[in-house]
Amino acid sequence: MTAIFKPTIIRFDSVDSTNLEAMRQAKAGAQEGLCVLAREQTEGRGRLDRSWHSPKDSGLYLSLILRPRLEMNVWPLLTLTAALAVADALRRACALNADIKWPNDLVVNDRKLCGILAETVETNSVPAAILGIGINLTNEVLSPDISVTATCVETATGVRPAAELVLLELTRAFGERYDFLQSQGGAEHTIREWCANSSYGIGRRVRVSMSDEVFEGTTRGLESDGALRVETNSGKIRIVRAGDVTALRATENQ
Ligand code: BTN
Repeated sequence: MTAIFKPTIIRFDSVDSTNLEAMRQAKAGAQEGLCVLAREQTEGRGRLDRSWHSPKDSGLYLSLILRPRLEMNVWPLLTLTAALAVADALRRACALNADIKWPNDLVVNDRKLCGILAETVETNSVPAAILGIGINLTNEVLSPDISVTATCVETATGVRPAAELVLLELTRAFGERYDFLQSQGGAEHTIREWCANSSYGIGRRVRVSMSDEVFEGTTRGLESDGALRVETNSGKIRIVRAGDVTALRATENQ
């Protein structure tokens, strides 16, 4: 397959949020493949209106502008594609095997190491996708309040990672997986790959927290748009498109 995705990196010492900067650039006409990279973010954004702690040179903070040749109903697969690419990059650059937690986290020993925030923006009446990726690299990122639930590459491997190498492997892996996603059968292939690389795909006992409801069940794979199928304790299949999913420990299992 001919590679189509070509990243062009623009670097900032400091920005409010690489996602916000990428949106501004996309609205100003930037092409697919522009990658906004910052050494620090003053207003790093997470899912569900949370913030993303982004101290200088302690993490990889970047956002890609995408103009996918895909129906918009399958754009959620971009998040899964990015998660697979981060897992590839950490394996290649740091010899680290991370798990993928639905929909957008990479975790090691159930502690979060990377988050992905996909947003859409109208640009000249054509929507673009902004794919923001934050990877915790060094111990300085782990402030006391987040170290209970978060980790970083340095803690997980015992070695300070080379940020530029992680960046190189990430853009390379994302390009491969994004080109594949847009090829014939790419969506089905991406879903199979995601399930093969995530312990959350099939048979995992989880608690699902949605805005108005919390329930428990067992994961039963993904829908064609990347939504998570969860079988409740009463045997009903629920389709989860938004919300937080946490693994239940053995002692919490039925
Ligand atoms: C999450 O897990 O809630 C998503 C976190 C996404 C953080 C990244 S850091 C780079 C990009 N810019 C942002 O403001 N957020 C994303």
